[in-house]
Amino acid sequence: MRHYKIALLEGDGIGPEIMKEAVKVLKLVEKRNDVKFELTTADFGASAYFKCGDPFPEETKAICDRADAIIKGPIGLSHEESKKIPVDKQPERGALLPLRARFNTYANYRPVSLPKDLGHFSPLKPEIVGDGIDIIMVRELVGGLYFGDKETGVNEQGLRYVKETLEYDEAQIARIMHQALKLSMSRKKVLHNIHKSNVLKSSVLWNEVLEEIAPEYPEVEIKHILVDAAATLLCLNPGQFDVMVMENMFGDILSDQGGGILGSLGLMPSACIGPEKSYYEPSHGSAPDIAGQNIANPYSMIGSVAMMLEHSFDMAGEARNIWNAMQGVFGDGYSTPDLSRPGADVKMIHTDEFGEKVVEKLQAMPAVAGP
Ligand code: IPM
Ligand code: MG
Repeated sequence: MRHYKIALLEGDGIGPEIMKEAVKVLKLVEKRNDVKFELTTADFGASAYFKCGDPFPEETKAICDRADAIIKGPIGLSHEESKKIPVDKQPERGALLPLRARFNTYANYRPVSLPKDLGHFSPLKPEIVGDGIDIIMVRELVGGLYFGDKETGVNEQGLRYVKETLEYDEAQIARIMHQALKLSMSRKKVLHNIHKSNVLKSSVLWNEVLEEIAPEYPEVEIKHILVDAAATLLCLNPGQFDVMVMENMFGDILSDQGGGILGSLGLMPSACIGPEKSYYEPSHGSAPDIAGQNIANPYSMIGSVAMMLEHSFDMAGEARNIWNAMQGVFGDGYSTPDLSRPGADVKMIHTDEFGEKVVEKLQAMPAVAGP
C-alpha cells in the first residue's frame, strides 16, 4: 500500500469550511484505493499570527518539510483587519510567499475551465463561451516583482520613494518554459506566450529564452501575445487559448480575470509545483465577508485535491473522477449562494451539502488506480 503524508493548512476566512469538504473527498479516495493518507493539520496565515505571533510558525514549517504534499486553504483578512498585523507579518508576505520560496514552487498551474453545459455560470454571452472554456494558465511563481529587492526611503528632493525589482535569470525562465511546453504537448499543442516586450526588458529575455527552447518541441505552435491584448481576448474569444505561460505578476492578474470569465474565483483551484514538493491551493482569497456561513462553494478546494492526486501521487484517474463528480453536481442543477449568475432554476445548497453530493457522485464511479 502506498503511504503519503499530507500537511493541511486550513488558512483564514472560508478556509476551514471548504477544507473540511476537501478532506471528505480525500477520505473517500483513500477508502477506495490502495493508498493511505496521513493528514496533519497545521496553523498558517492570519489565524496562526493571532494564535502564536507568527503566520508561518516553525512547527508548521516542520510539518510541511516532512509532508509529501501540502494542501493549503486561502489566507488573508479584510483590508481593515489586516491593519492589526504588522506589514511583514501579514499572511501574504509573512506566510504565503515564504511557503512558495521554501519549496521553490516555481510552476503554478491555474486551470480556467468551464464545460459547455455549465456555461450559464459565465458572465460572457453563450456564443462567446461556445463549446466551453478550457485553458490552463502557467504562472511563474517564485520570481519577478514578488521576490525582487525592494527599497523605500526619502530621495534627494525630500520625497518618499519606492523601488521594486523585476528580476529573472535565463534558468528561471527556461524551467517554466519547459513545463509549459510539455503541458502543451499533452494538450492541443498551442502555447500562448504572454509578455510585454514592447516596454519591459524582462519580457525581451523571456521571449528570447522561449525562442531558444521551442525547437525542442517542434510540434508546439507558439503564439506571442502582449499581456494587455491577452486580457481583452480572454473576454472576446477565450476559446482560442489552451496553455498560456506568463511571469508572476501577469499571472496573478490574468488568472483572476480567468476566474471572472468563469463567473467566480470559487471555480479556480491551482497547483504550485516545485522540484521536490508541491502544494495545492485555491487561487482566490479567504472571502472574510462570507466566512462561517456555510455558503462558500468548495469546488476550488476539492479541485486542488484533484490536482494533488494527479501531480503529486500519479492518480490522474481519480482526479478526473473528482472533476466529473463536481461538474455532475452542478449538472444536476445544484449551486451555492456565493457563485455568481447561477442560472434560473438552480437548487441552492450549502458548502457541506455540496461536499456530500460530490462524495455521493464519486462513490458511484469506479475507482481508477493509476493515471
Ligand atoms: C494568488 C494570490 C496571492 C498572489 C496573494 C494572496 C499574495 O492573489 O495566489 O494569486 O498574489 O500570488
Ligand atoms: Mg491572485
